[in-house]
Amino acid sequence: MTKPNLLSGMQPSAGSLHLGNYLGALVNWTKMQDDYNAFYCVVDLHAITVPQEPAQLRQNTRITAAQYLAAGINENKSALFVQSHVPAHAQLAWVLMTLTGFGEAGRMTQFKDKSQKAGADAASVGLFTYPVLQAADILLYQPKAVPVGEDQRQHLELTRDLANRFNSRFGETFVIPEAVILKETAKIYDLQNPEAKMSKSGDPKGLVNIMDESSLIAKKIKSAVTDLDGVVRFDRENKPGVSNLLGIHSAISGQSVESLTAHFEGQGYGALKTEVLEVVLGAIEPIRDRANELLADPAELDRLLAKGAAKANEQAEKTLGIVYDRIGFIPARR
Ligand code: TRP
Repeated sequence: MTKPNLLSGMQPSAGSLHLGNYLGALVNWTKMQDDYNAFYCVVDLHAITVPQEPAQLRQNTRITAAQYLAAGINENKSALFVQSHVPAHAQLAWVLMTLTGFGEAGRMTQFKDKSQKAGADAASVGLFTYPVLQAADILLYQPKAVPVGEDQRQHLELTRDLANRFNSRFGETFVIPEAVILKETAKIYDLQNPEAKMSKSGDPKGLVNIMDESSLIAKKIKSAVTDLDGVVRFDRENKPGVSNLLGIHSAISGQSVESLTAHFEGQGYGALKTEVLEVVLGAIEPIRDRANELLADPAELDRLLAKGAAKANEQAEKTLGIVYDRIGFIPARR
């Protein structure tokens, strides 16, 4: 039996993924690659919708890919590739742009947030069409499942709308993809501002990066915000800092929050932090070390990415060929 397809993507927007990306997305991606024919994409075309320094973008793209592989994305099971290596993404995006309403695109809340931050004149047309490119990323691979965070729900709805619109206008072409929204329990918050999602506060001290040195991670976890109550107990509302530490422990160790609370009974926050640090380093150190090994040999890393791009191109070209035919483009003879 053939496995259903799956696609997801992550931006190469930083020099490292953080603990929230890892526990929220990557862990699930590595698990899902057994049940699905998975395509995982580093979305560099999306990254340039905001200004990027070229050398930095190149480096961040390799670092992001290296972390995917180091965390267990297996290049033989899944296609791990860089979006700009598959020209069909930009090509299908153009077609889908002609099917997207101006007002429809203008209602995307991420566009509204990001363009407000950039200022109306600084926001590019590329930022405006970002969700349409994302729809193209997805629809090229005919995936049944698209694992994403809650913040991507609206983009997935647009993707489904565009797929349905194309299908009803030109005939059945696209599989209608389902968003697989990652679980609430996998949500990791900022260590300094535990009401905000990790990475959303802008405070580097609140962020555990996969590529951080262990001594730096120790410093960040030891100085994580807690409270004055002194009791290790899960209560997101009144004890967000302690609850976040318990959540991190639980997400990595697999122990339930209840059993952890029992385990820490009569102990203080020092003991909790010591153990959380142990668990976090146990998960992160091997990934960081493997990622650094991969980065030390960029030729080998680029070879792995070429292998992923070849698999991705094969599927993407097939879909784009059908689309071009359905809309009435004459075939390009080679
Ligand atoms: N917009 C997504 C994010 O910011 C990244 C992304 C781009 C994506 N293309 C995708 C996610 C396709 C899933 C599928 O997280």
